[in-house]
Amino acid sequence: MFEAGLLKGQSILITGGGTGLGRSMALRCAELGAKVFLAARREEPLRATAEEIRKKGGAAAWGACDVRDFAAVEKVIEQAEKEVGPVTALVNNAAGNFVCPTERLSPNAFASVVGIVLNGSFHATLALGRRWIQAKRPGTVLNILTTYVWTGSGFVVPSACAKAGVLALTRSLAVEWARYKIRLNAIAPGAFPTEGAWGRVIPSAEYEEHHRRRHPMQRFGRHEELANLAVFLLSPQAGYINGDCVTIDGGQWLRQGGQFNDLLEVPDALWDEMEKARKKAK
Ligand code: HXC
Ligand code: NAP
Repeated sequence: MFEAGLLKGQSILITGGGTGLGRSMALRCAELGAKVFLAARREEPLRATAEEIRKKGGAAAWGACDVRDFAAVEKVIEQAEKEVGPVTALVNNAAGNFVCPTERLSPNAFASVVGIVLNGSFHATLALGRRWIQAKRPGTVLNILTTYVWTGSGFVVPSACAKAGVLALTRSLAVEWARYKIRLNAIAPGAFPTEGAWGRVIPSAEYEEHHRRRHPMQRFGRHEELANLAVFLLSPQAGYINGDCVTIDGGQWLRQGGQFNDLLEVPDALWDEMEKARKKAK
């Protein structure tokens, strides 16, 4: 399905591309022929990931920027175009998040997360969208969301608000910019182990185990699973998919949402007893 050279001719800008899922998507896109440009605040992870890609024979470059700063985003895009040619696709993957009871949040804590996730995604989308429209070039945007865009979630309210905003951005611009041949889609991942997420939203080993136990598949996501989905949505094979959000979570959010899903805790022996009692009553 993912033949060599699938992404040949593409230059993909990945925000937060030096670590975690951004790094995994960058490696996979480069493996399939894309040139990738990685942008985030810290230089070291960006440099290390770009070097790793080049060592494997791929093409990669990087630039440091804070996506909350529109001028910095514009500057890094100029740098990207010099280093990997005209950018054909954008992955808005950079994010900030932490768990915190909402009444303990400061306004600046809220602004910080919303600034990275919502403003940051808007900044990169606007800067590249304008370029694509002006040059009459097609473009693709892939936004990385979370499954609580569907449900909201306690304890991550800034992130939930921001990611829901990015979903609205995805759906709105998918319609508005389709006439310019710009396609926007999103991915809503469940839990995928990364240093960034685990350090901030999985506060203990017990909570991790609790999460795993409650998962319908009893496991977290694998990076290659998400990276392959990203590649598909960025590839020409997904040319008619526009304005959608694909969930990749092994069914986790549905399991949390369904009213009777906690019956997963009921042991088989109890079901056996209930069945026996029902048959006896007939
Ligand atoms: C409460 C917090 C906080 C915390 C920071 N703040 N951490 N408040 N609980 N744990 C507050 C600070 O006190 C400050 O407010 C404000 O937030 C800004 O903090 P800074 O440290 O100055 O901000 P900054 O350096 O910009 O860092 C941004 C950050 C940080 C979001 C706070 O965590 C970060 O850099 N994150 C980037 C990577 C990341 O978050 N990855 C996880 C993605 S996982 P005051 O009022 O004191 O000034 C994900 C999905 C998870 O999104 C789903 C998994 C299943
Ligand atoms: P991560 O490694 O912490 O990724 C976040 C990236 O964003 C980092 O590379 C970080 O680099 C960059 N970033 C943060 N603030 C930035 C800013 N102001 N400007 C530019 N870049 C910034 O965590 P991850 O788990 O891989 O998360 C990647 C994406 O997946 C995020 O959108 C996250 O919300 C989403 N997601 C993850 C999970 C999961 O379970 N892992 C689940 C659902 C959704 P710097 O700090 O160097 O800037």
